[in-house]
Amino acid sequence: MSANPSRAGRHFLQIPGPTNVPDRVLRAIDRPTIDHRGPEFARLGRDVIDRVRHVFQTAQPVVIYPASGTGAWEAALANTLSPGDRVLMAETGHFASLWKRLAERLGLAPDFLAGDWRHGADPEAIHAALADDRAHAIKAVCVVHNETSTGVTSRIPDIRRAIDRARHPALLLVDTISSLGSIDYRHDEWGVDVTVGGSQKGLMLPPGLSFNAVSEKARAASTHARLPRSYWAWDDILESNRHGTWPYTPATNLLYGLQAALDLLMAEGLPAVFARHNRFAEATRRAARAWGLEILCQDPEEYSSSLTALLMPPGHDADKLRLAILEHFDMSLGMGLTKLKGKVFRIGHLGDFNDLTLAGTLAGVEMGLEIAGVPHRKGGVAAAMEYLASEASKAKGVRRAA
Ligand SMILES: Cc1ncc(COP(=O)(O)O)c(C=O)c1O
Repeated sequence: MSANPSRAGRHFLQIPGPTNVPDRVLRAIDRPTIDHRGPEFARLGRDVIDRVRHVFQTAQPVVIYPASGTGAWEAALANTLSPGDRVLMAETGHFASLWKRLAERLGLAPDFLAGDWRHGADPEAIHAALADDRAHAIKAVCVVHNETSTGVTSRIPDIRRAIDRARHPALLLVDTISSLGSIDYRHDEWGVDVTVGGSQKGLMLPPGLSFNAVSEKARAASTHARLPRSYWAWDDILESNRHGTWPYTPATNLLYGLQAALDLLMAEGLPAVFARHNRFAEATRRAARAWGLEILCQDPEEYSSSLTALLMPPGHDADKLRLAILEHFDMSLGMGLTKLKGKVFRIGHLGDFNDLTLAGTLAGVEMGLEIAGVPHRKGGVAAAMEYLASEASKAKGVRRAA
């Protein structure tokens, strides 16, 4: 359905989250309320608590909160740290800055490694800061895996190695709110202590659920962490989760949605999900290069597969372009946040999304550039289509050979 009732056809919601919710997930949520302490709920609870671990690629517990991602950010800090603790955070963009502000408000002392909002967290800078900290005063390193404001993905395995090289005991806390279920991410293999996730992006659910995947080391830290916590306390939740329930009212219907979303992700298989997102991102970058628009992310190793942020030519306002596209084609694109306001627009290509969704999205952008009078070359959509078609024929070849 269109966001604008006077319009026919579907609204194109191509922001980098909240993303489009598949019909199957919507139908799963659309059920009568059940008793959250009854046996039917316990079956649902046990199933999602067990299977959600798959998307984090972990065998360790995942705590599910009835909260937006910000709640899970707070939970990760409140469960593991004590007032005044130093935490090393990397300024990758708007969301990393918000997480840092949250840490300050909780009474922590963040060391904020400066960044230019065009690169991911720098493993060498993290190594240097930890190597300098001989007294081990830094208790945690906090990194946003995929910075949604910039379309830059930090290299978590390199950051893990940097921490290990410095022989530093700090916990590693990672925000995967816009990478979970769309960009390869491995909580166990990469030695992450707390992974923060959210429901409204790669998981293809409405906003309202968020997650902490928790390592043994993080659980051990939580036993002596002194930041006040009640709603967010892992122990109470994990204890109750043993029976498939929560210590307070869970978001019952969203958990039905989670069950359906896990079915979808598991049926496709995570490697295929990641490959699909890589393909959308590459096609989008090809379109951008053909248009002559600059990609905000400067290091190809850090290109995000869930969204692409594009810089406007000097003197042109990204918000005017977005408004023209919304008015003429009923499509929403992501805006530039804080210091990127008006300078970039962001194309979300994650979640319930296929080649033709991308082709339609890019067509809307190309027509919008024309209508808004933004200098560009034609041929972005054609370049993306050529790439998508060649990838489709390769996949067909693979299927035939199999
Ligand atoms: C990377 C990242 N972290 C944290 C957040 C905050 O999550 P929420 O808005 O669900 O509280 C967002 C929201 O978009 C995000 O993209």
